[in-house]
Amino acid sequence: MSFLHGELDALKRMGRLRSLRWLESPVGGRVKIGGREVVLLCSNDYLGLAQAPSLKEAAIRALERWGAGAPASRSIAGSLLIHRELEAELAELKATEAALLFSTGYMANMGLLTTLVGEGDLILSDQYNHASIVDGCRLSRAEVWVYRHCDPNHLEDLLRRARHRRRLVVTDGVFSMEGDIAPLPHLRELCDRYGAILMVDDAHATGVLGPQGRGTAEHFGMLGQVEVQMGTLGKALGLVGAFVAGEQVLMDFLINRARTFMYTTAPPPPLVGMALEALRLMKAEAWRRERLWENTRRLRKGLQEMGFDTSNSSTPIIPVLVGDDRLVMEFSRRLLERGIYVQGIRPPTVPEGSARLRLSVSAAHTPEDIDLALEAMGEVGRDLGLI
Ligand SMILES: Cc1ncc(COP(=O)(O)O)c(C=O)c1O
Repeated sequence: MSFLHGELDALKRMGRLRSLRWLESPVGGRVKIGGREVVLLCSNDYLGLAQAPSLKEAAIRALERWGAGAPASRSIAGSLLIHRELEAELAELKATEAALLFSTGYMANMGLLTTLVGEGDLILSDQYNHASIVDGCRLSRAEVWVYRHCDPNHLEDLLRRARHRRRLVVTDGVFSMEGDIAPLPHLRELCDRYGAILMVDDAHATGVLGPQGRGTAEHFGMLGQVEVQMGTLGKALGLVGAFVAGEQVLMDFLINRARTFMYTTAPPPPLVGMALEALRLMKAEAWRRERLWENTRRLRKGLQEMGFDTSNSSTPIIPVLVGDDRLVMEFSRRLLERGIYVQGIRPPTVPEGSARLRLSVSAAHTPEDIDLALEAMGEVGRDLGLI
């Protein structure tokens, strides 16, 4: 396997080598790294639910009632009533007829894109869609036309030229590395006008956007108007897993066709029990979303006042554009020395020349955490000549 050393050396020379950082405490507003407590500004636990005590109790209850696992695929012997209960709750959250669980968002996107379209069809995909959408597009065998980020005019140009059997427009609801929101009303209008299916990946919008955290559709007052929605349990709900929400016929189709649903083991009951509880907390504890947005406003305002480029972010995902790969990693390293953990994001996750810090805010942060982060960002940003 000596060729692997060569491959890794090449990444290192480019300033693109990744390695894992070990946390010595559970994920929260702060974590322990290298024996020190630091502010964690790069987790997707937007509502601070990952450590909610009642989730642990829910896991134990589900474990006692249903056991540790459902060790078969859902279509064989892995469909438990607790799965049905969660799917009904998720459908209600998204105001759809039905929902279907998947093990991860990656698998849900793969399952959707490889079944809804195929050879002879067309996918129109936003330039900055998540990697799981990009990979789903590749596997689908459909033709893929990429439209400029959040640009309905470009999308319309492409739709006008499309002569394919079936057309599918796919977009992140909240873009994972930009923190901006897809122009859903425009996309809906274009899909209606040109007879295309609309698919929205609400991984970062579920629990975050809309007065009740129901996602991008709720944010735009468009509940019930998106035919294919994907959401995850792994971000604002603090767990892992995902779901598709839409009409019952879509779920029946996925149960029959989506290989990432058919050929994988069912989600374990303790996880499903925790997801039910996380949904309950999300609805009952509105203060979590309020605090999330207060923290978000405080951080973004502070960064912008110091002169950082936060792109078009309008959500708890706040990119700070740096450009150079090595510089962004140096920025991240120096922040950690000052007690702030923020990850540097480099290509291929973002386009060449657009390396950035990706800050993500949580309801688990206190205003003091945010102020500490701002102070450190200012000091290091000035040292590195970025502001
Ligand atoms: C926009 C988006 N879609 C899908 C996924 C994949 O979800 P999961 O982590 O559940 O596989 C992610 C992140 O992980 C994401 O950011």
